[in-house]
This record gives sequence, C-alpha cells and structure tokens, in this order.
Amino acid sequence: MPANVVVIGSLNMDLVTRAPRLPRGGETLIGESFSTIPGGKGANQAVAAARLGAQVSMVGCVGSDAYGQQLRGALLAEGIDCQAVSVVDGSSGVALIVVDDNSQNAIVIVAGANGELTPTVLERFDAVLQSADVIICQLEVPDATVGHALKRGRELGKTVILNPAPASRALPSEWYAYVDYLIPNESEAMVLSGLAVDSLETAEAAATQLIASGAGKVIVTLGAQGLVFANGSSFEHFPAPRVKSVDTTAAGDTFVGGFAAALASGKDEAEAIRFGQVAAALSVTRAGAQPSIPTLLEVQAFKS
Ligand code: RIB
Repeated sequence: MPANVVVIGSLNMDLVTRAPRLPRGGETLIGESFSTIPGGKGANQAVAAARLGAQVSMVGCVGSDAYGQQLRGALLAEGIDCQAVSVVDGSSGVALIVVDDNSQNAIVIVAGANGELTPTVLERFDAVLQSADVIICQLEVPDATVGHALKRGRELGKTVILNPAPASRALPSEWYAYVDYLIPNESEAMVLSGLAVDSLETAEAAATQLIASGAGKVIVTLGAQGLVFANGSSFEHFPAPRVKSVDTTAAGDTFVGGFAAALASGKDEAEAIRFGQVAAALSVTRAGAQPSIPTLLEVQAFKS
C-alpha cells in the first residue's frame, strides 16, 4: 500500500493572464492570453503528492458554483480521496494571477469557500487525519483550522509539514512545536524570522531562528539557488536542477507534495529533498498550477 498523505488546505480556481511584464500601480497592460486552471496551494500539493506516488486525501471546502465542481473533479481525476472536500454555499476560492515573460508571477487570492474550513469542519473528518502518515498544511485557510490540524497531527504522532504560504505575519508561537518540517520560501522565511533572506547564509540564519522557536527541521527554498536544509545546528545546501523556466506558479507546492510523498514512501530526507527538487524543476518548465506538476515516471526519467 502506498503511504497516505493528508492535505488540509485551499482549492482555488486560478484566473491566469500572461503579459509581457507585471503591471505597475494604476497601469493597464494588454495581456497575451487568459486561462482558468485548477490551483490553490492545498490542492496543488495534493495533486503533486498523488502524481508522485502517494495515496492522498484532501480536506477542504469548495463553493456551490461551477468552479467548485471543477476543482473537486480535478482532484478526483487524480485518484485523490475527496470525502472531506465539502461543498458550501457561495463562491469557490479564486486566485488572480499574472505571469510575465520572465516566468515571474504576481498573485491575489480571494478565500471564498476556503474561509469556511473551520476547526468544527475539521473535527468531522478526524478519521481522515487518523489515516495519515504525513499531514501537510499551508496558510490559505483560517489560522484556527491550521492550528487545530497541526496540534491534532502532533497528538496523533503523524509527520507534520507546514508550508507557511502565503506568510504575511509571524506564526502563533505554539505552532512551531507541532511541526516536524517547516518549509518557507525566502520571503516567508523573512516574514517569520524578521531577518533579511537573500542568500544561503541568511537562509541559514533565518532557519536557526525558526528552529530556536521550536520547529523540528526547516527547509528554506530559494528558487534557482536551491534550498537550505537545517537540522538542529547543521545545514546542507541542495542546489536546484537547471531547467528553462516558463512559469514558476506551483513550483513550491510541487516541492512540498513531492517531498511529502517521497518521505512517506520511506526515502530518507536527502533523497526526499532531491526528489521534490526535480519535481519542482520540471513543474517550472510548464505553464499553470496543476497541469504543470509532473508524474513519478517523469521525475524518474529526469536527467539534469
Ligand atoms: O502556489 C500557487 C498557488 O497559489 C496558485 O495555484 C494559486 O491558487 C495560489 O493559491
């Protein structure tokens, strides 16, 4: 039986335009294309873990609109268990995304149904959490729900991963002790630690602070610079595989889902990190969130 990864988080419909560059304040640009693509950090991480070998259950909420059906359908098509994806009255979560010619993006999310994933809803699906080997959370659902999921994951003795994205403020201090792997990118590491993060050295300093706050191990992802893995007071740098970047949307999600799937399957941390990095590198060579996430066969066939 493949190991079970449970993702507690958001499902968004991504409304994506490509433009030569990101607009400045007050500016109107002519876009080159428009697409609606299933996304949301939680759902992307669930799809990544499923395509990369894990059995996956998703816990989340979609709206009673057409997007809600499409978002749930996209997960079901990947073989993801959606018994804990509730349909609530109103609009699904959406993300307005602009991707420029340098493959950089700017994103605004509107929570919609994701805001209805309360601790009470989560309690109804406690059996799903109990079935997990690995639990993954992010920050696109209410904080109270994330806190509940992390705490419950720790009580149940599960491996708990927190991808603190998007981070706009410090985390509640009690969360750190519930987390086995904290996986921020550089801007999230900066918000959480209060330190500038733009190099391997500064990533190590931020990770040291986050471990001192109580996190088990910390992985600071640094885009093309790779990542820093901090375990206690030891650090390891993992360079990123070199690829031609088309769209970085969901690269972080692909890393998190791939890392979790690999860890759950019994790979050691270093192997799981490299596996997640290859998956993320492949995802940036393709457009969109969920359509860009590679399969296990593609990762195994990758040659840098
Ligand atoms: O991490 C990428 C995701 O962030 C997008 O799919 C979008 O929905 C936002 O949640």
